[in-house]
Amino acid sequence: MSLLDRAVVTLLPAVPRPVVRKLSSRYIAGPELADARRVVAQLNAQGKLATVDVLGEEITRVEEAAVITHAYLDVLDAIDEDALDANVSVKLTGLGLKLDPALAKENLKAIAARGTFVRIDMEDSSTTDATLRLYRELVDDGHRNLGVVLQAALRRTVDDARTLAGANVRVCKGIYIEPLDVAFRGFDEIRDSYLRTLDALLDGGAYVAIATHDEYLVTQSLRAVRERGLDGSRYELQMLLGVRPELGDRIVSDGHRLRIYVPFGSHWYEYSLRRLQENPKIAGYVAGDLGRSLLKRG
Ligand code: FDA
Repeated sequence: MSLLDRAVVTLLPAVPRPVVRKLSSRYIAGPELADARRVVAQLNAQGKLATVDVLGEEITRVEEAAVITHAYLDVLDAIDEDALDANVSVKLTGLGLKLDPALAKENLKAIAARGTFVRIDMEDSSTTDATLRLYRELVDDGHRNLGVVLQAALRRTVDDARTLAGANVRVCKGIYIEPLDVAFRGFDEIRDSYLRTLDALLDGGAYVAIATHDEYLVTQSLRAVRERGLDGSRYELQMLLGVRPELGDRIVSDGHRLRIYVPFGSHWYEYSLRRLQENPKIAGYVAGDLGRSLLKRG
């Protein structure tokens, strides 16, 4: 962690709420569903697809999981009503995974039953097995509109990829700081694992969602797709709202499908603080952004 990152993380809780709001506003659609609707419609107008994430804090009660589940059902209604080109991304802990896996399964089923595609985000490594298990159970029950996520940082991931023949899988580097015995830490090791994971998925007939802002990985992933002679029906690229939009514009103008991850919700403050404190690298990006915007103004 650089000194600057460390300083940002330590000082963050002392930063006034409106300033954190301003810093995070680029990365979060806003507190209300109406904000997500507006942002997704704007993205669609630019030829970009979206996946909507309802921001939730750690839940401790069954009722809280029900609130998040209903918020997703409202998102799905909005997608239909506004004819948006979008799907949803859910976190199983938000649906109750840590309270009771059966509860998370019921909530996920209710969301998947609407028919729109549902991506199950991958959380820290303590949840990987349970997440893949629940995904498989629902697919076996006939829910074909589901996809999962694999994190290149985890040492197990290439093996997991080999078990997901024909699935719809997002590949990302992984946001969580994990113990060394389960995860790679080296930048190049993670890149290498990312591309090996992608190769295994493509060779197994999966649809891949290439989720990264790392231009090297975008180029190499597209090369892997091209070398296999696969067309646009087998892959899409994905990026986070507000991150490297110029790269996203280039991807779209080159004719690829690009989906933007759009978080929204009233928990934006807790979410921003937690994300920044969980992974100081993001704090570094934000500090960089802040520096650039101050320089522009100055
Ligand atoms: P890298 O971290 O090397 O970033 C490349 C460049 O992109 C940086 O140099 C910087 O310029 C810019 N950048 C990247 N992230 C930024 C940020 N947050 N703010 C500002 N600039 C940034 N993780 C996970 O564990 N589970 C999941 O389910 C998902 N889901 C997911 C969906 C989508 C659509 C994306 C794009 C990412 C995720 N992630 C995730 C997060 C992912 O694991 C990873 O942490 C980030 O994408 C950053 O890694 P990159 O591959 O972009 O490379």
